[in-house]
Amino acid sequence: MTRINVDLGPRSYPVRIGHGTLAALGSILREDGIRQTEAFVVTNACVGSLYGSLVCASLEKAGFTRVAQHEIPSTEAGKNWDEFTKTCAALIESFPDAISTPLVVLLGGGVVGDLGGFAAAVFRRGTPFVQIPTTLLAAVDSSVGGKVAVNFGGVKNIMGAFSQPRAVLCDLSLLSTLPPREIRSGVAEIVKYGAVCSADLFEQLEAGAIEKLLALDASTLVDVTSQCVQLKARVVEQDEFDRKGIRNVLNFGHTIGHALELSADYALTHGEAISIGMIAAARIALELKLIRAELLARLRDLVRRGGLPETFAGPADLFDRTLRAMRMDKKFRDGQNLFVLPCGLGEWVQREGVDWEIVHAAVREALAG
Ligand code: NAD
Ligand code: GLY
Repeated sequence: MTRINVDLGPRSYPVRIGHGTLAALGSILREDGIRQTEAFVVTNACVGSLYGSLVCASLEKAGFTRVAQHEIPSTEAGKNWDEFTKTCAALIESFPDAISTPLVVLLGGGVVGDLGGFAAAVFRRGTPFVQIPTTLLAAVDSSVGGKVAVNFGGVKNIMGAFSQPRAVLCDLSLLSTLPPREIRSGVAEIVKYGAVCSADLFEQLEAGAIEKLLALDASTLVDVTSQCVQLKARVVEQDEFDRKGIRNVLNFGHTIGHALELSADYALTHGEAISIGMIAAARIALELKLIRAELLARLRDLVRRGGLPETFAGPADLFDRTLRAMRMDKKFRDGQNLFVLPCGLGEWVQREGVDWEIVHAAVREALAG
C-alpha cells in the first residue's frame, strides 16, 4: 500500500492507495488514531449494495458499535440542496445526542464525497469524516483536498466549504465494478494533471499508460493514482483555501467544462465535460500564442485515446446557456472569467480578460459536435 501524506499542519491526513484494502478499513482507522465508536456511512444504492456490508463488517470488527447508512441518488443530478438537507436530517435523526460524535464515512464517487463531506463539514460545525473513493475520478482528485459542495441554482459547487477528511482509503480493486464510461471520466482528470502539472506523467500516458489505465492494469493504477494524489497534495499544501491562485491549476478545463456539465442537463459525466473544457482552453491558449499547434494536437490525441469527447453537440440554446453558466462561475469577477491555460507541456498560466471573441469561438468549437 502506498501512503501519501497531505501535510496541512493540524489538518494533515494520510491517503492510502492499494488493492484489496477495504476489508482492513476499521483497523487502518484505528491506526490513524480515529477513536469514534459510531459511524454514519453515506453512499448510494449501487455502491452501497456492492461494498456497504464489507465496510460495515470491517468497522464492527474494529469496535464500532453502531453503523448507520444513508443513501443519496447515484447521479450528478442528486448533488443538490434537497439531498444535502435530507442527509443532514438523517444525521440528526441517527445522532440526536451531542454526546456521541459519529465518524462520517463517505463511500462512493465524487458526488457522495462532495455532498456527504459538506454535510459532515456543517453538522455540529464539523464532524470528522473519511473518504473511501470508489471511482477513478474520486481516487485521483475529489477525495483529496477538502473541497466539499453541492450544486445550486444551476451553478456547480456554489454552496460548499473547505473541510479536510481525517483519512482517505483508496482501494483500487473497487474499480472492477465501475462502468467503463466512468473509468474514462477519471482518465480525463489524469490527463489534466499531466497536461498542466507534470510533463513526465503526460509522456507516460502517451507511452501507453492511458490504455493500461482503461484496462485497469493493477500496477499502472497504483502508480498513476499515487502520482496524481502527490501532485494534488503538493498544490493543496501551498493553497489549501484556494486564495493564492496556486490551486487554480486544478481547474484546467473547468471554466468551460463546469458550465457545460450542468448546461448539458447531465448528458456528460464530469470527466467528459472537463475533457471538452481542456481542449477548449488549449484552443484559447493557441489563439493567445501561449502554446504551439503541436501541443494542442498531442492533447487531442490523448483525449481521443482515453475514449473521451472533444466536443458536445447539444440543443440550439446550449451556447447561450453555457455562457450564462460561465458568468455564474465561482471565479467570475469584474465581468471576466478566469482561464487556466497551458503554456508548455506540464506548465500553466492563468488569464483574466481574454477577448470575448476568442472565448466565444472556443465555446462554439466545443459545441460543434
Ligand atoms: P459519481 O460520484 O457520480 O459516480 C459515477 C457513477 O459511478 C455513479 O453512478 C456511481 O453510482 C457509480 N459508481 C461509483 N463507484 C462505483 C463502483 N466502484 N462500482 C460501480 N459503480 C460505481 O462521479 P465521479 O466522477 O466520481 O464524481 C464526479 C463529481 O466529483 C462531480 O460532482 C464533480 O464536481 C466532483 N469533483 C469534486 C472535486 C473536489 O475537489 N471536491 C474534484 C473533482 C470532481
Ligand atoms: N478540483 C479542484 C480543487 O480541488 O481545487
